Amino acid sequence: MQSSAKKLTLCSSPNIAFIKYWGKKESTCDEDRNIGLNPSLSMTLSKAQTKVTLEASQNFEFFIQDKIASPKDQEKISAHIKRIEEYLQKKLSPFKLSSSNNFPTGTGIASSASAFSALTCAFISWMEGNDFLQKALQEKTQDLANLARRGSGSACRSLHGPFVEWNDRSITLHKSNWKLYDTILIFSKTEKKVSSTDGHKFATLSPLFKERLTKVHDRIEKVKKAISEKNLQLLGPTIEEEALEMHEIMRNNPHPVEYQTEECKKFLKEIQKISSRDFYFTLDAGPNVHLISEKPIAHLVKMLLEKSSTHAEIWEDEVGSPLSSC
Ligand code: DP6
Repeated sequence: MQSSAKKLTLCSSPNIAFIKYWGKKESTCDEDRNIGLNPSLSMTLSKAQTKVTLEASQNFEFFIQDKIASPKDQEKISAHIKRIEEYLQKKLSPFKLSSSNNFPTGTGIASSASAFSALTCAFISWMEGNDFLQKALQEKTQDLANLARRGSGSACRSLHGPFVEWNDRSITLHKSNWKLYDTILIFSKTEKKVSSTDGHKFATLSPLFKERLTKVHDRIEKVKKAISEKNLQLLGPTIEEEALEMHEIMRNNPHPVEYQTEECKKFLKEIQKISSRDFYFTLDAGPNVHLISEKPIAHLVKMLLEKSSTHAEIWEDEVGSPLSSC
């Protein structure tokens, strides 16, 4: 992180959920926004990053990927500035904000998580300085997580690493030196037709949703055990079951959504044929596949893509800690 009186740059990475936040509690005020109906647990990545730069300016100006932010994004950013101002009980002095991702946006790599994690930290640092921010991340962990969560639910898990559990209004950090890799297969770069925000609503209307809530606690315990024992054979089947269930719920509700493309389905079939595997998949709300392993597997993935006659761009990532210099 670099900062001076006039300029500040900060980066944050997305996280991949092993146990998904999918389905929100009803909210009547901003403080209650984006609270999951079940606990979730994720791994923070390191190579994919959202970089936010703030520079002093006469007026607030917002740029995303070098373009003026859309009215919808401007609104979301302004609402987030307001949250931070209320928290700090101060007005933020105006800045030009530039936010950019070094990875494809809207493709199943959770860009809203890294964006709102980076924005939360950048706004706090802008007003109070980096030392204040670092101290607040340690000592006001829940306050900062709740601020980020109000921007986008999954963002509260990107403020820290390597593994973060989020339940209602609090997060729990699971320290570990388990080196895991996430090889992401980008089957499609098309922005998803149904936003996560709508997806969360539709999921709760599925007849399968209630049953999911009864299973998710057991799954999260398995994931925590797997992390503490560094047990990939326990983690893998659990996260696959979780991801497949989420996609099944989206197919079975009054607003059915099929997130998987034909190529994605073909590829998943191919890997499920392999009898003993040392890599396991998960998916978010999209067709792109995250393969979790203890070793880099890009070479193997290329072979599997050929075998299943499918094409995907590959993004190689790995577990990381949260905010980094960039
Ligand atoms: C499928 O955090 O993007 O990635 O709170 O509406 O911004 P909002 O939703 P968002 O939902 C993420 C959903 C997910 C699963 C997860 O990350 O837990």
